[in-house]
Amino acid sequence: MIVAIDGPAGAGKSTVARALAERLGFSYLDTGAMYRSLTWLGLQRGIPLDEGDRLGVLAREFPVSFDDAGRVFIDGSDVTSAIRQVRVDRMVPVVAAHAEVRDVMRERQRELGSEGDVVIEGRDIGTVVAPGAEVKVYLVADPAIRAGRRQAERPEIGADALATDLKLRDESDAARMRPAADAEEIDTTHLTIEGVVARIEELVRACIPAER
Ligand code: DC
Repeated sequence: MIVAIDGPAGAGKSTVARALAERLGFSYLDTGAMYRSLTWLGLQRGIPLDEGDRLGVLAREFPVSFDDAGRVFIDGSDVTSAIRQVRVDRMVPVVAAHAEVRDVMRERQRELGSEGDVVIEGRDIGTVVAPGAEVKVYLVADPAIRAGRRQAERPEIGADALATDLKLRDESDAARMRPAADAEEIDTTHLTIEGVVARIEELVRACIPAER
């Protein structure tokens, strides 16, 4: 079974998707981490990030992988922490916008999500990567709350810069940020993580035949 969790930055996707996967005993796939890893590698190698064809080739040559502990690897490097750097936050929408990059990522995401039960988190999972997902959720939250959550993860950045970064990312991600027609939209602004996880778990349980 595939559970697709989409939505903008700071809506709570990662926290919720991880907790849900743990609760259900599903594996977890963070597709944003894949775009981030490629961005990190592109920066590392000095590849101009506006060159989609070169980045597409790079993506194909260096597939992103994850270990059981959720660490992220590309080109033999553990980039789990490096991909959360502010320079990656700022540049990843540029990389993720290239069709050449998305083609490779989509293929790899389908491959990684094809075995067993999995919670997949991203922007276009319910619409493009796994349109047949049994459960689709689209998380949203108030922009101020989303900025506040990001602030907790990036204490080194000022609140104003962070709100601006989030707004710019929303604008760049906008083309891909739409809920699937059959997704359940959950506004996490006033909900606890536990509350959101419980709601999605209900949706999942409703899809699991009683004998499982
Ligand atoms: O969820 P995140 O902040 O780690 O995502 C990083 C970037 O990758 C973000 O700018 C949106 C993009 N992304 C995407 O275009 N498609 C996905 N399936 C996942 C992330």
